[in-house]
Amino acid sequence: MRKVTIVGAGNVGASCALWLAQRGICDIVLVDAPIAKTIPVGKSLDLLQAGPIVGYNSRIRGNADGNYEGTENSDIIVMAAGLPRKPGMSREDLVGANQQVVTDVIAKAMPLSPNANWIVVTNPLDTMTYLALKQSKLPKNKVVGQAGILDSARFAAFVAMELNVAVENVHTVVLGGHGDEMVPLTRYSTVFGVPLTEWMSKEKLDAIVERTRKGGGEIVNLLGTSAYYAPGAALAKMAEAILLDSKLIVPCSTLLEGEYGLKDVCFGVPVKLGANGVEKIIELKLTDDEKAMADKSVKIIRETMGALKF
Ligand code: 2OP
Repeated sequence: MRKVTIVGAGNVGASCALWLAQRGICDIVLVDAPIAKTIPVGKSLDLLQAGPIVGYNSRIRGNADGNYEGTENSDIIVMAAGLPRKPGMSREDLVGANQQVVTDVIAKAMPLSPNANWIVVTNPLDTMTYLALKQSKLPKNKVVGQAGILDSARFAAFVAMELNVAVENVHTVVLGGHGDEMVPLTRYSTVFGVPLTEWMSKEKLDAIVERTRKGGGEIVNLLGTSAYYAPGAALAKMAEAILLDSKLIVPCSTLLEGEYGLKDVCFGVPVKLGANGVEKIIELKLTDDEKAMADKSVKIIRETMGALKF
C-alpha cells in the first residue's frame, strides 16, 4: 500500500487524514511535535474507529512524542505543522515561528523518506513552500503548496450560494499567492460553461471576489482559528492526484522559473499533478489587469520571503 505521512495532527492534518482515509488508497501516519504528546495516537484511533461505520478500511497510525517511526518510505509527506492564524493575524505574521517548524520537519522526515513528494499547507503558504523546497534540496516538481484548490473552492461555493445552483456546475480559477491579494480569474470562471459575467452583475461578482480573497480570514474570525475542513479536503485531493497519477490540473503553489514572467518565487498557478508531483506548469494568458493583480500578489510574497532567515 502507498503511504502518506501527515506532519501536524491538528485540525488541518486530522481533517486531511479523514478525507484521505475515506478514499482507501493509502496507509496514513499521523505525526506531530513532541509537545503534542499522544494527540496523534488518539486522533488515529478515533479515525480508525470511524472506519466500520463509514465503511473504510484504511490503516491509520499515530505516533506520540514527535516520533517519526513508521513514516519510512512515505510516498507523500503532508506538511500541516505550524501555528495557525488567530483573529487579527495575517498569514504573513506567522513566518518567523513557522520557518523553524518547517525546517525541523524536513530535517526529521527527509532522511526516512528521501523520495517522497511534499505537499505544504503551513502558512504563509507560498513562502513556506519555497522554504521547504530550498531546505529539502528536492527537485522542484516534488514540493508543492496547497492554496489554489482551496481558494477556487471558496469562490465556487460563494457562486453556487449566490445563484442557487449545484456546486458541480461551477468552475472557478484562483491563481496567485495564498493571501488577501490572491488573483481570482473571473474570465476563466464559469457556470455550466457560461462565463460568470453573464450570470450576475459586476457589483455582485466583485463582492464575491472580495469575499473569496478574505475567505480564510472570514473563518478565522468566526472560529478563532484557521479553517480546516476545506483545507484538509484540498490536501487530500492533491495527495490523491499524485498517488493515482491522475494528471489533474489544479492551481497550486510551485516554483516559477520564468513562467508568468516570474522567477525564484513559489506562486499559485495551474499545474498538472501526477506521480511525479508537479509534472507541468500551465501558462494561461493574462490580461494587463490580471497581470497587475499578480504583480501585487508576488510583491507581498517577496516581502514575506525577505523575513526568512537562512
Ligand atoms: C485558509 O485559507 C488555512 O490558509 C488557510 O483557511
